[in-house]
Amino acid sequence: LGDVYKRQPLNGIRIAAVLHVTKETAVLIRTLMRGGAEIWLAASNPMSTQDDVAAALALSGVHVFAWRGETQEEYFWAIDKITECEPHIVIDDGGDLHVHLNIQKPSTAVRIYGGTEETTTGVIRLRAMEKDGVLKYPVIAVNNALTKYLFDNRYGTGQSTIDGILRATNILLAGKTVVVAGYGWVGRGIAWRLRGMGAHVIITEVNPVRALEALMDGFEVMKMDRAAEIGDVFITATGNIDVITKEHYLKMKDGAILANAGHFDVEVSVKDLENIATSKRELRECVTEYSLPNNKRLYLLGKGRLVNLVCAEGHPSEVMDMSFANQALSIRYIVERHNSLDKKVYDVPKEIDLEVAELKLKSMGIEIDRLTENQRKYIESWLF
Ligand code: NAI
Repeated sequence: LGDVYKRQPLNGIRIAAVLHVTKETAVLIRTLMRGGAEIWLAASNPMSTQDDVAAALALSGVHVFAWRGETQEEYFWAIDKITECEPHIVIDDGGDLHVHLNIQKPSTAVRIYGGTEETTTGVIRLRAMEKDGVLKYPVIAVNNALTKYLFDNRYGTGQSTIDGILRATNILLAGKTVVVAGYGWVGRGIAWRLRGMGAHVIITEVNPVRALEALMDGFEVMKMDRAAEIGDVFITATGNIDVITKEHYLKMKDGAILANAGHFDVEVSVKDLENIATSKRELRECVTEYSLPNNKRLYLLGKGRLVNLVCAEGHPSEVMDMSFANQALSIRYIVERHNSLDKKVYDVPKEIDLEVAELKLKSMGIEIDRLTENQRKYIESWLF
C-alpha cells in the first residue's frame, strides 16, 4: 500500500459520503484521505453515529456533519450540506444522497464522476432510478460484490443484530421462538446464528425459492399472520415496507419484542404501533414499551431503526474491512475510468472482488491451492 499512498490516486478528489459513522467507516475515510481525497461526511441513519468517532474524524480534517440523535430534518440538512462541496465522487448507504443529488440538485449531479452504494436497499433504489432515466452518473453497487454481501450482510448483520437485541434486553435466546421476516442474505445470517444459540426460528417470506431454501435449511416457514401469534421475538430483514403491522400486533403475545435489521424504519410499522397504543414509555435506552387496548405490551427496540447500529456498534471490523476495501477500490476505479462509464448501475469489477478475497485470506494467514496450468486448461475445455 505504501506505493499507492505515494501515488495518491485520489489527489484533488472531493468525496461526499453518507455512511454510518463508526470506527470502521473512519478507517475507510482515513484510507481515502491517504489516497489524496478531501472528505465531507454525513450519517446514513439519524441514530447510528458514534459521536467519539465523528469528533476524532473532525479533528483529523474531515468535514463531518453527523451526530447521534439527529431529527429527520437535521438528517436531511446534513445530507444537503455535504453536497455543497461539489463532489467528484459520492458514497452512499441506503440511497438518500443519490436521490437527493439526482432529483434536487441535478446541476451538481451532472458534474459527478460517479458514486458507490453500500447496501441492498440503496442498490434497489438506484436500479429504479436508472430504469426511470433519472440517474445522472455511474454508480458501482458495492453491496453486490461477493466479498460484501456474502460476509457483511450475512455474518456481519447476523451477529450484530443479535448483539443489538441482547445489549438492549439481555434476554435468553435459548428456547425462545424467534420470527425472522425475509430469508435473504441478512435474514439467513440472523436465522442461522439464532439457531446456534438455541432459539426456535420461524421464517416468513414472499419469494417461493427463498421460502423453500429456508424450509430445507430446517426452519419452520409460515405467514406472518400465524407467526404473529407464537413469536417471542420478531426481527425484520426484508428491505420492504409494512412487514409487521397493526393486525399482527393485536395477535401477539404479551411481552413480544420487535426489532428491525433492514435499512429503513418502515418494516416494523412504528406508525401503526403509535396509532393503536393506549400508552408508551421508554423503559431503558433502546427499549420502548407500547401498551395495547387488549392489555398486552410490546417492546420495540431502537425505535424500529437498524437494531445492530442503534442498540450495538454495527458490524465487527472483520467484515467491514472487506466491504470498505470494495468501496475504496471501486472509487479508485471510477476516478481512473469515469470518462468511459455510462450513467448506470455497475457491479464491482470481478478483479476487485477477487483481490479483496485474496487480501482478506492473506490478512488471516490462510493459504490456498492454485490451479496448475493443466487444471486450468481442463476446466476450461470440453475436449478431454
Ligand atoms: P435480500 O434481497 O437478499 O433479502 C430480502 C428478502 O426479503 C428477500 O428474500 C425477499 O423476498 C424478502 N421479502 C421482501 N418482502 C417481504 C415481506 N413482506 N415478508 C417477508 N419477506 C419479504 O436483501 P438483504 O441483503 O438480505 O438485505 C435486507 C435489508 O437489510 C435491506 O434493507 C438492506 O439494505 C439491509 N441491510 C442491513 C444491514 C444492517 O447493518 N442492518 C446490512 C446489510 C443490509
